[in-house]
Amino acid sequence: MARRAGGGGRTPAAWAVAAALLLAAAAAGPAAAEAISGPRLDYVLHCMGCHLEDGGGAPESVPTLEGFGRFLQIPDGRAYLVRVPGSAHAPLDDAALAALLNWMLVRFDPTRARAPEFRPYEAAEVTRYRAVPLADADAERRRLLRVLDGDPSGDR
Ligand code: HEC
Repeated sequence: MARRAGGGGRTPAAWAVAAALLLAAAAAGPAAAEAISGPRLDYVLHCMGCHLEDGGGAPESVPTLEGFGRFLQIPDGRAYLVRVPGSAHAPLDDAALAALLNWMLVRFDPTRARAPEFRPYEAAEVTRYRAVPLADADAERRRLLRVLDGDPSGDR
């Protein structure tokens, strides 16, 4: 009898949260079940372990996602949100990752995501950025923050 290893890197804790959400949604009816599929479920399964339900992250190790849309103000920053390991290495195709990032922006940086200049990620754009691995995410993050702060030494 053939058996397949399942899980795809998902942790038991993430599955437990997902199962609980699915059960709660099933009890609440089909509309709610729909609301927790797609990007929201992807976030629970693949990102929430580090970034937490409210995007708060962890002091000193995982930055808060609150206001993370500020990186969209510069082209390298727009690429960074896709190229950061958590995004780039997620077991999601480019369309699903684009949808997930757009959902996260609305959820954790609603002011910027609802501004008229906001341009959602598209799958083809994600494909392009993902093809260029980020050697040192932390260094790139610090460089981008310096550029955003208007420090020309960051603008190399
Ligand atoms: C193992 C822990 C971990 C997981 C899982 C994870 N991330 Fe992250 N994430 C980080 C850390 C740490 C950073 C800070 C940059 C770095 O050092 O990689 C980060 C940064 C980010 C950023 C940039 C925010 C900023 O302020 O720098 C985005 C966007 C992001 N992650 C998206 C995701 C997505 C999408 C997923 C799920 C598909 C995910 N991450 C899963 C740890 C994680």
